[in-house]
Amino acid sequence: MVHSQLAIYSTDDLPHKLKQLENNWEVFMSENKIPGPQNIRTEVLKSWKRCKQYNVDPLQKQSPILIDENQFVELIGKSKLYSVSQPIIENLYEQIRGTKHLITLSDSDGRIIYLKGDYEIEDQAQEMNFVIGADWSEKAAGSNAIGTSLAAGKPIQILSSEHYCQGVHPWVCSAAPIKDPLSKKIIGCIDLTGPSAIAQPHSLTVVRHLTNIIEQNLLTNSYHILEHLQQTYDELKSKNTASKIMVLDESLHVIHADHESLDLLKIAHWAQLWSHDEMLRLKNSLLDSNAHPYKWEWDVSSLGVKIFIQSIELESKRIGFVFCLEKLYQYRSADSSSEIALQGVIGASRAMKTIIRKAKIVSNVNVPVLLTGESGTGKEVFAHGIHKQSSRKDKPFIAINCGAIPQHLITSELFGYESGAFTGGNPKGKKGKFEEADGGTLLLDEIGEMPLELQVHLLRVLQEKEIVRIGSSKPIPLDVRIIAATNKNLTRLIEDGRFRSDLYYRLNVVELQLPPLRERKSDIPLLSESFAAELAKTHQKPIPAIDWNVLQFFHRYDWPGNIRELLNVMEYAVLFNENNRITLNSLPHSILDKKEEAFSRKDKRLSTLEEKEKEHIAQLIYETNGNLSEVARRLDIARTTLYRRIKKYNLGNILE
Ligand SMILES: Nc1ncnc2c1ncn2[C@@H]1O[C@H](COP(=O)(O)OP(=O)(O)OP(=O)(O)O)[C@@H](O)[C@H]1O
Ligand SMILES: [Mg+2]
Repeated sequence: MVHSQLAIYSTDDLPHKLKQLENNWEVFMSENKIPGPQNIRTEVLKSWKRCKQYNVDPLQKQSPILIDENQFVELIGKSKLYSVSQPIIENLYEQIRGTKHLITLSDSDGRIIYLKGDYEIEDQAQEMNFVIGADWSEKAAGSNAIGTSLAAGKPIQILSSEHYCQGVHPWVCSAAPIKDPLSKKIIGCIDLTGPSAIAQPHSLTVVRHLTNIIEQNLLTNSYHILEHLQQTYDELKSKNTASKIMVLDESLHVIHADHESLDLLKIAHWAQLWSHDEMLRLKNSLLDSNAHPYKWEWDVSSLGVKIFIQSIELESKRIGFVFCLEKLYQYRSADSSSEIALQGVIGASRAMKTIIRKAKIVSNVNVPVLLTGESGTGKEVFAHGIHKQSSRKDKPFIAINCGAIPQHLITSELFGYESGAFTGGNPKGKKGKFEEADGGTLLLDEIGEMPLELQVHLLRVLQEKEIVRIGSSKPIPLDVRIIAATNKNLTRLIEDGRFRSDLYYRLNVVELQLPPLRERKSDIPLLSESFAAELAKTHQKPIPAIDWNVLQFFHRYDWPGNIRELLNVMEYAVLFNENNRITLNSLPHSILDKKEEAFSRKDKRLSTLEEKEKEHIAQLIYETNGNLSEVARRLDIARTTLYRRIKKYNLGNILE
C-alpha cells in the first residue's frame, strides 16, 4: 500500500498515471473490488470506503449547495478563520494568477467560504458546483482534497479518478487542514484546485505553506484577543472590587476569574464549570445567541447565584463574555426563640438590645433607614428583620448589591426597561428592582459603591416616589420602603466627592449603626451556641457541646470578620469536631494561629493568681448564664465582693 500525501512525484508520466487511476476507480466502483495495493494510496482507499458507507453516488456530477446567502453572510460574519485568512489568500493569489488554479478556504464542515481564481477556471468548476457555499465534505461530495484532508486530519492531494465522484475526475486538488493554534482543533482547510492535465506535486507544498502562515496569524490574533480579555478583566476589577468577575473567551473557556467564584458556583476547578444542568443550559443559550452586543442575566437558583452576562467586543466582533456573579439573597426563616427580638437577628447584649429596639420602632414608619457597620456585622440580616417586623412583611423583600453589579447594568437593574431598549435585552422589556419591590422593601446594599451619575436618579426616585423605565417616558408610581446599607464611611466618601451629600441626607433619616462583635463580646456564647445548633441541623449532625476554653479564646479574640467570621469558624467546628465536643483542636488553623497572640494579651496589672481567679469568675458567669447570685454562691463569697471583683477584673463586658 502506498503511504503518501502526494498523488504524483513528477509530471513525466502523467497520462499513464491518469489511465491507471481510472482503472482503479472502475475496479472499485463497477466490480466492487479493491485495486492492487501498489496501485492505490492508503488514504484514498480509506476515503473510498467511507464514501461507500455514506452511500455517495460515484456517478454524481455536482456537489449539493447547502447554505443560502443569508446563512453564508452570518457564517462568515462570525468566522475568525475567514477574517484572518482572506487577506493572506488574496496575497498568494497574485503569485499564481494565470496558472489556471483556484484557491479555496473551507470551514471545518467542508463548506467553501472563500474562493479566488482565474475566471475561465471558475466557470468550469461551477459545473460541479465548486462554488462558495457548497458542501465539499466527503459525505456530500465523495473523496476530494477538502473533505478528505478534513476527515483524515492531514494534508492530501487527490488526482483525477482518485476522486470518488465522476464529476470531479477532470480535476486535481491539494488541501491542508488549518488548526486552531490554542485548542489544536481543526477549524477549516485551504485547497488549491486545477485541471488534472496540469497536475503538479508542488501544489501541496504551496497549500501547506499557506496554512502555516494562516496558523501563525491566528496565533498572533489569539494573543491580541487574550490580551484584550485580560485588560477587560483588570479594568472591571479596578472598578468593581466587590464583585466576583469571570472573563470567558468566545467558546466559553474561562480566561480569568476570581478564585471566590469557584466557591459561589460550588465547584472545585474550572473544568467543572458547565457540569451543572442549569449552567449547561446557559452555555448552550450563549453559544446559540447572535445578539450583538449581548447583555443578559441568568439566575442559577439551585446554586443560589445570579449571573450578569455581557459580551466583550473587539473591532465590532464578539470575542468573549464577562460574567459578574452575585449571590441570590437568602434569609434565615422565623425563629421563635425568645432571644430573638427581630427575625434572624441573634443578640442579647446591651448594645444589641438598644439597636433592636430602635429597629422595631422604625420598622412600621416608612422612613429610609441607613444601616452602617463593619463587614459581617449583620446589616443584611437586620434589613430583612426590619422588613419582617413591618406591616409589609408579606410583600416582597428585594435586595440589590450595588457593588456586585457592573456599573452600566445598575440602571436597568433598578429601573427596568421597555421593550426594544436594548439589543439582547428581553424583547418584552423588564421590571426593575423598584417595581419588583412595590408594596414591600428594597435593600440597597453596599450603597457606597453606587456610581455618582446614578445617585442623582436615585435621589429623584426617593423624592418623587415614582420611577421611569429606560426607553419609556411614563412615570410609574411606587410604594417602596428603602433600606440602604454600607460598610464604608459615607461622610468620607462625601468629602472625596464620591457620594452626594443630598442623597446621604435623604437616606440617612434613621441610622442604625451595628456594633462590631469585639464591642459586644457578651453575645459570643449565645451566637456560638445558636450557630452550633443551626449548623448541626443543616449538616444533619448532633448538636455539639462547646468547651469553656473555646469560648474563653473567642472572648479574647478580636473578630475582624465579625459575625460572619464566627459563623464560618463554627461551621468548620461543627463539621470537624470529635465526640460531639468542640475543643480548641476542632477550630480551623486560620483562627488557631491567633491563639497565642490572644492569650498573651494579659492584663499586666494582674498576678498569675489573679489571672486565674478572673478566668474562673468568667467561666462561672458563662455557666450560670450571668446569674450572679449563683456565681457568688459557688465561689462562696458575698455578692458585694463578687461585684467588686467583676469591676476589678473588667468583666462587665461579658454581662452586658
Ligand atoms: N445578629 C445576627 N444573628 C444571627 N446571624 C447573624 C447576625 N448578624 C450576622 N449574622 C450572620 O452573619 C453573616 C454576615 O451577616 P451579613 O451578611 O448581614 O453582614 P453584613 O453586615 O451585611 O456584611 P457585609 O458588609 O460584608 O455585607 C450572615 O451569614 C448572617 O446570617
Ligand atoms: Mg451585606
